[in-house]
Amino acid sequence: MTLPKTNIQSLVKQVALSVLLLGTTLPAVSADNRTAVWLNENEKAMLLKEMRQFLVASQKILAASLKEEMESVETTAREVGIKQMRSTPASLTKKLPEGFKALGPKIHKGFEDIAYEAETMGDSAVILERLAELQQTCISCHATYQIKVSTD
Ligand code: HEC
Repeated sequence: MTLPKTNIQSLVKQVALSVLLLGTTLPAVSADNRTAVWLNENEKAMLLKEMRQFLVASQKILAASLKEEMESVETTAREVGIKQMRSTPASLTKKLPEGFKALGPKIHKGFEDIAYEAETMGDSAVILERLAELQQTCISCHATYQIKVSTD
C-alpha cells in the first residue's frame, strides 16, 4: 500500500508532536541512574555509618574553625583521617568500583591534611578552604554512585 505524500507528512508531524509532548510531560528526572554499588546489609550499614561520621566531622570542623579551636579541629579530623581508611575491611573494598575507590581515600587524606594544618600552622582560613574543597569530592561521589543491597 502506498500512502499519498500529504498523508505521510501529516503522520510524521503527528509522531513528532507526540514525541515532543511525551518528552515534556514525563518528569525530568524519573529514575536514579547513578552507578550501583552492590553491598550486603552489613556493608551498607558500615559505609553509611562512616558517611554520617563524615558529615558530623565536617560540621564540627566548620564550627571549631570559626571559633579558632584548633585542638578540636585536629582531633575531629584525625578520627576520619588515614586511620579510618585503614580500618575498611578488604571484603568491602573489593566490591567497590575503581572510581569509588579513588574518591574515598581522597576524603580521608583531605581530613588528614586538615588535622595537620590545625596541628601546625593552625590557620582557620586555610582549613575552611580545604573543607570546602573536600566537600566537592562528597558531592561528586554522591552524584555518581548509589548503594544497592545484594544478599552476598
Ligand atoms: C567514594 C564515594 C563517596 C564519598 C567520597 C562520599 N560519600 Fe557519602 N555516600 C556515598 C554513597 C554511595 C551514599 C549512599 C547514597 C545512596 O545510596 O543513595 C552516601 C551517603 C551519605 C550520607 C547518608 C547516610 C545515611 O545514613 O543514609 C551522608 C550523610 C553522606 N554520604 C555524607 C558524606 C560526606 C559529608 C562526605 C564528604 C566528606 C561524603 N559523604 C563523601 C558515597 C560517598
